[in-house]
Amino acid sequence: MNKTISKLAAATATFLLAACGGGGSGSSQENPAGSEPASPVQASAKGAVIPAAAPPREYMQCRSCHSPQPGKHGVGPSLHAILGRPAGSIEGFNYTSALKQSAIVWNRETLDSWLEAPRKMVPGTRMVMAVRDAGRRAAILDYLESLTPDKPAQE
Ligand code: HEC
Repeated sequence: MNKTISKLAAATATFLLAACGGGGSGSSQENPAGSEPASPVQASAKGAVIPAAAPPREYMQCRSCHSPQPGKHGVGPSLHAILGRPAGSIEGFNYTSALKQSAIVWNRETLDSWLEAPRKMVPGTRMVMAVRDAGRRAAILDYLESLTPDKPAQE
């Protein structure tokens, strides 16, 4: 008889422990699950603001003077759809006559020489920033290509 009572007591204790343990782990799982959905929503909202590919680090030094948006000019002209365009050809931007009369057409090759030494390529230009490192120029050119929806064939 004593044995039966102690078995019942043990069974009851085990049941109570299981119920407490189950309830405890159930509620602790809810917190991390509840905080997860917030981050993907924020990420897609940020992504929607940027029209083309996100600019690489190398392009940051161009941003103070050039916008990637069509028709938006700063100290320098917009660089939207620059590939395939004759130099100094955007209506409404006040270029130097040196650049307007240069007869350059922008492609990867001419842009590469321009970025390496603008004043050597077009003496008298107002753009003075040069990018000496070929790898950095390549990263910038990849980005400029992404701003040109219909990329012209390479010559
Ligand atoms: C301090 C301002 C400034 C910075 C920084 C600058 N530019 Fe310029 N950029 C200009 C100006 C001003 C012109 C117009 C030059 C002229 O009329 O002679 C120009 C012209 C150009 C042109 C020719 C545009 C056309 O319509 O023919 C390209 C391409 C260009 N810049 C690319 C770049 C890139 C890429 C960078 C970053 C590595 C850069 N620029 C940094 C001021 C700047």
